[in-house]
This record gives sequence, C-alpha cells and structure tokens, in this order.
Amino acid sequence: MESNIIKENDFIFLVLDDRRRWLVQVKKGEEFHTHKGIISHSDLIGKAFGTCIFSKPHESQGYKFYILKPYPSDFILHMARKTQIIYPKDAGIILLHTGIGPGCKVIEAGCGSGALTCILGNYVRPNGHIFSYDIREKSLKQATKNIKKANLNDYVSINYGNILEDDLNHKNIDAIVLDMPTPWLAIEKVKKYLKLSGSIVSFSPTIEQVKKTTFEMEKNDFFEIISVELLIREMQIKENATRPNTRMIGHSGYLTFGRKIENKKNPYRGIKPRKKEFINLDGMPLRDIDDNEK
Ligand SMILES: C[S@@+](CC[C@H](N)C(=O)[O-])C[C@H]1O[C@@H](n2cnc3c(N)ncnc32)[C@H](O)[C@@H]1O
Repeated sequence: MESNIIKENDFIFLVLDDRRRWLVQVKKGEEFHTHKGIISHSDLIGKAFGTCIFSKPHESQGYKFYILKPYPSDFILHMARKTQIIYPKDAGIILLHTGIGPGCKVIEAGCGSGALTCILGNYVRPNGHIFSYDIREKSLKQATKNIKKANLNDYVSINYGNILEDDLNHKNIDAIVLDMPTPWLAIEKVKKYLKLSGSIVSFSPTIEQVKKTTFEMEKNDFFEIISVELLIREMQIKENATRPNTRMIGHSGYLTFGRKIENKKNPYRGIKPRKKEFINLDGMPLRDIDDNEK
C-alpha cells in the first residue's frame, strides 16, 4: 500500500481556501511563499497527507493550510500550460471508454501542454507506454517539463511527429487519442497502428469537426462509433437553497469514439437456399426442415 506520509520529492496539494490552492513538490530546505505567509518544506516532510500546517511567521500570519495528496485532476488543472488542455471530466471518459489501463500502449497527438499525457501515463503504469507527438516546439518543451515533474518519464515518450504525415512506425497499439484541429485527416493513416479491437478517440470543440471525423471513421470501417458531450454541474448545498451553481463550464468539447474491427463480406449472403427436404425420423411425423435449421 502507498505510504500516506510525505517524503522529499512528493507532490502535495496545498489548500488555503476554495480559490487559493497550489501543487508543490517537496524539497528539503526550500520554502513556499504566499501572501498569507511562508511554509517551510522541511516542516512538511514526515507529516501525513490530510493534516494541516500553519504558515510562518506565526505571530503575524499563522494561516491554516491543508496538505492533501493530489488527485490526477489536480495535476491537470494546476500544471503549467501553453495550450488549451483537456478537462478532468473528458479525461475520465477517455480512460473508461477506451479501456486504457495498466500495460496499454497508446499513441497521442498532439501532446499540447501534456495534461492528458500525464493522466494517460499514470494509468498505463507499470508496464504500458504513451507515445506522444506534437509539431510545435513550445508544446513539446512544456509537455516534456510536465511529464518530468510528474515523474512519468519511464511511461511516456514525447517526440516531434506529424500524425498526418509522418510514418510513426508503431503496431499493435491499444488506443489512439487525438486532440488536434483536424483529426479526420489522421483516421486513415493511424488505423494501421492499432490492433484489432483497439480504440480511437478524438476530442474536438466543434460539431463540424465531429461530423468530418465520424464520416471518416465510417469510411475506414471503424465500429461502435459514438460521439458524446459531458456536462458537469456542481451543486450549491445550503439550508433551503440547494440547487446547481449559477456558473459552470458550458462547453469544453465533444468526444468521438470508434473501434477497429475486421470487416469481411458475409460469404453466406447471396447463396440460394437449398430445396426443401423431407426427413423421416423413427416414430416421428414427417416434417419440413425449416430454413433456419439448415
Ligand atoms: C489543444 S492542444 C492538445 C492539448 C493536450 N491534449 C493537453 O491536454 O494538454 C493541440 C495540439 O495539437 C498539436 N498538433 C496540431 N496538428 C498536429 C499534427 N498534425 N501532429 C501532431 N500534433 C499536432 C498542436 O501543436 C497542439 O499542441
């Protein structure tokens, strides 16, 4: 079982209140400065996740900070970013609806800031791998930094690669994740990397992209093609005033899923049914052989 005690290099989620919360990597001798005082990293080491600590100097500041173990969603929302990132709700259904889990080999394009890459890398441990590609230098640099920070170097490779043009030389891949402007142009090209029954998922902000991607999946014999949109409404819980919050994220994007299958023509179609035969079973009345029983 994973230890609940904070060690050097662990990530903690330092929470002051609803808005002020930080993802911090614990380094002996370092300090975390906020406008509500200073937290010394050495004071965190040896404490249990879930406890609290007071900022220094105690006389003038002494604010209470909670120390939580970060969830994957905390990494996504609090990591440094250069691009629009995938929201935790969308990352969640990507994992569940593609079967990405321990041991899976996955291709991702583009890596962007590496937010989704971190989630995928975390879930394929201990013996799977994410091969993530992008064409922008800025994205490659930012994603590489975030992957290193999340300690996922052994499970993720970030490389320059144009998913539309380059031959990426993969086979037997379990899943392909596309978050890029023109996913439909990649479908035919990436199909050969996938193993049979492997899945492809594309994240797109507009319906125009979804339609083109769906038609291209159909053209390439993908199976179980569906598109979904997820909306999350947080609840305001108050005595006599419990209802959805006034504000919410109205739209992030649509997800289109499909699976690679073998598509053969039905060899039994078009064969003329044989003439009706009569059989005589001992003691049984003569009967017709039904077409379905042949
Ligand atoms: C919205 S970002 C991806 C964000 C990422 N999913 C995340 O959670 O951080 C889209 C990325 O796709 C990359 N991209 C666009 N066309 C590409 C292509 N043909 N091959 C690989 N990457 C591409 C862009 O450079 C950009 O970094």
